[in-house]
Amino acid sequence: MNKSWPYPAVVAHRGGGKLAPENTLAAIDVGVRFGHTMIEFDVKLSQDGLPFLLHDDTLDRTSSGYGVAGELPWQTLKTFDAGGWFSGEFASEKLALLSDVAEKCRQHALFANIEIKPSPGTDRETGRAVALAAEQLWQGQPAPLLSSFSSAALEAAMAAVPALPRGLLLDEWHDDWQALTASLDCVSLHLNHRLLDAQRTAQLKAAGLRVFVYTVNKPERARELLNWGVDAICTDRIDTIGPDFA
Ligand code: G3P
Ligand code: MG
Repeated sequence: MNKSWPYPAVVAHRGGGKLAPENTLAAIDVGVRFGHTMIEFDVKLSQDGLPFLLHDDTLDRTSSGYGVAGELPWQTLKTFDAGGWFSGEFASEKLALLSDVAEKCRQHALFANIEIKPSPGTDRETGRAVALAAEQLWQGQPAPLLSSFSSAALEAAMAAVPALPRGLLLDEWHDDWQALTASLDCVSLHLNHRLLDAQRTAQLKAAGLRVFVYTVNKPERARELLNWGVDAICTDRIDTIGPDFA
């Protein structure tokens, strides 16, 4: 795998952090308006296999739809409003396809962190499909960084497109982090920032891993993490932790 790390130190979480409806094209526009050059977003598959953006398993919280998102075809998903839950200003916003986001990244020269968020029971097929789609859609752009809490999804992504960089997401500390990241040939470890201290950061860096942390919303904490040597900070506060923060 290509282990180069062209990514900036600040990443806009779910496109526009808390300033726009998460994981929409409008959110990415807000991120761009604040000058961000890298976005993180969550991707799963529709029932008919199209990669699209959504954080939760179900549609209920962030769209006008209900139920398990992965059980519906794109023809149905595309009719839902994905912005009105956030505010009236975004009421016409639709769910976004990964292909739309690739185009947006090309348009604004944005780096992408594609978080693979499989619907329950679809880890391997989602990992494979997202990696294959990303390889094709990001042609001629810097490689998107693939990440997931699901090691099965990352394993399938690695098998399908070994060259795309991978990062394992952990919300709890695992003492076997080195074996886990080695088995998936990861370039980075993506950690809840609360799991980190200076010593752990140094250990990860000494092992040759890049360290990506989420979700850091206090500038003092972001500064501390960067001083320890963390490589990327994913934030909802795209206003106070801006692209020039680092
Ligand atoms: O990828 C970093 C972060 O997005 C992981 O947590 O739940 O916000 O997707 P979550
Ligand atoms: Mg995410």
